[in-house]
Amino acid sequence: MQKGLTNLNRYLLEEQRKYPHATGDFTFIIEQIAFASKIIAREVNKAGIVNILGKAQSVNVHGEDQQKLDVYSNAKMIEALDHIGKLCAMGSEECEDIVPIPDKYPKGKYVVVFDPLDGSSNIDVNISIGTIFGVYRAVTEGNQGTVEDFLQSGRNLVASGYVIYGSSTMLVYTAGNGVSGFTLDPGVGEFLLSHENIKIPEKGKIYSFNEANFDRWTPEIQNYVKSLRSNKERQYTGRYIGSLVADFHRNLLKGGVFAYPGDTNNPNGKLRLLYEAAPLAYIVEQAGGAATDGINNILDIKPEGIHQRTPLVIGSKYEVELYRKYVTGEV
Ligand code: AHG
Ligand code: MN
Ligand code: MN
Repeated sequence: MQKGLTNLNRYLLEEQRKYPHATGDFTFIIEQIAFASKIIAREVNKAGIVNILGKAQSVNVHGEDQQKLDVYSNAKMIEALDHIGKLCAMGSEECEDIVPIPDKYPKGKYVVVFDPLDGSSNIDVNISIGTIFGVYRAVTEGNQGTVEDFLQSGRNLVASGYVIYGSSTMLVYTAGNGVSGFTLDPGVGEFLLSHENIKIPEKGKIYSFNEANFDRWTPEIQNYVKSLRSNKERQYTGRYIGSLVADFHRNLLKGGVFAYPGDTNNPNGKLRLLYEAAPLAYIVEQAGGAATDGINNILDIKPEGIHQRTPLVIGSKYEVELYRKYVTGEV
């Protein structure tokens, strides 16, 4: 497809035509997510000049302060998706329970999960943040939407992606046919195809961990990190932004590994399987990389609860596999 002239809608339409039985429902969902992300991008970009910075007066289900932009982004994602007749429910990092479709609207066969604003501690300091999303087919009969519809492993994802609000806004997306990247042209307000068939390098030179947690990691994890630091053949460099989307995006394009392992305070780490780990694991696998919790492939983990956390190690195949070997005692 021709770069620059292919907007997201055309790309989705051409993909849809490859499947003769496709109804267009799915294309519509992605278009609405892209629409919400443009509204969020506009708000993110003016966050410094209007009174939207700072904390809202609420705490989310994980006991973290909710930033105003978290609340705003969550509302925009829900508003963009609740009326389209293609979903039977939504799941958001910011909502304790699954989000039902209002009775006044028709329902459909898909469910969408999202982290509406990832990296929220970076909002106030003008550093890249993002939105992460995943789309599943509902599994329960009828179209009421139940928690069961959300407790699916990442292998069942129909599509996933993220939007990064960085020096430009980009949407990166897969529906199981490789990974494509679209850059928002603010002049026309369209996402234009800018990165075709993204592949992550097999080995990277970047590692991204919050090393302040080092003393709380197991000796196996500490030894893994030490092995990267002292590697004589490859001079690794550390890069850690503290916005998963931004750290992941950089490593996807340049090669490397991001890890948020469990530690003595938080045995399952910090990140959520459904809203963060699984959607990015699908992207990375489609790009030729890998994601593990140390033992299991992230895409094979079936969640037991919608807000379940998981250790996450994600990026280039070589570094992710090496981590798994350290944790399982193979090296
Ligand atoms: P969120 O803003 O959606 O709660 O996610 C924050 C996450 C993630 O973006 C990042 O990788 C991680 O928090 C950083 O955590 P630390 O500050 O503990 O390093
Ligand atoms: Mn997040
Ligand atoms: Mn978030």
